[in-house]
Amino acid sequence: MRPDECCTVEKCDIFEFMTKHVGMTILHPGGFHATRRLIEKCHIDKNTYVVDIACGKGTTSIYLAENYGCKVVGIDISEELILDAKTLAKRKGVEHLVNFYVGDALDLPFSDNTFDVAISQAMLVLVNDKKKSIEESVRVVKSNGYIGWLELSWKKEPDSQFLRDISDVICAYCMTNVETFSGWEELFKDSRVKELQTEKFDMQFSAMDKMFKEEGFANTIRIMMKYLFNSDIRKRMIQLEKFFKEHQDVCGYGIFTAKKDVDGV
Ligand SMILES: C[S@@+](CC[C@H](N)C(=O)[O-])C[C@H]1O[C@@H](n2cnc3c(N)ncnc32)[C@H](O)[C@@H]1O
Repeated sequence: MRPDECCTVEKCDIFEFMTKHVGMTILHPGGFHATRRLIEKCHIDKNTYVVDIACGKGTTSIYLAENYGCKVVGIDISEELILDAKTLAKRKGVEHLVNFYVGDALDLPFSDNTFDVAISQAMLVLVNDKKKSIEESVRVVKSNGYIGWLELSWKKEPDSQFLRDISDVICAYCMTNVETFSGWEELFKDSRVKELQTEKFDMQFSAMDKMFKEEGFANTIRIMMKYLFNSDIRKRMIQLEKFFKEHQDVCGYGIFTAKKDVDGV
């Protein structure tokens, strides 16, 4: 891809397309339906102290504060997204429960054993050292606390043609970082967690129905307007939906949860 192409609606990576061009706030496979399952699997309640690693615009952190009344720390490498997250927390009146910081998932600015639960969604595919990032998530959680990851996952080893196609349609760098379900499991097991559980789902990019409804009324209207009046956005969304539909034999996502082993990192 030429450098001048990388930020265009047609050629930018899927994450940039969803946040910047479409204006979506839920930026992981499975949408909020999957998030709710992740929360359930991590046994989060009012008394749980949670870190949301790579929190993006803070949607999940704020959801947790609003709906569970628990304390949450959201951290993301993007200053711009953290600013959005802080603004949203203020608007929703949950700043007393949620704190947002700019920081790196590869070097979390927290002491060992700080949180009851660490979650991250669609983060591992974006970092250049997945193992280190997993170890960091485990490190900041107390012994027997839960760690939950939600990640795009291959149902079977993809062939080189598929990888070329997905790089063209989605983005070159993060798709090569995706693992098969068992590949992810091996990585998590290496971090000395226990009771690892995997839930496997089909990947869908349901442009116009489920995903939009979860964005809330006002944002859904904004996104619909873009879809209707911006043909580049419309074309790319249709292309993404078609790609995932056609490759359902390979594309899935997983919710992986485990407990920190008492002797864990
Ligand atoms: C696909 S988005 C997911 C955002 C959010 N978790 C969600 O599901 O809506 C990936 C996020 O990872 C963040 N990110 C990428 N590399 C990171 C790193 N090394 N440390 C922290 N955040 C990172 C990006 O800025 C982005 O917000």
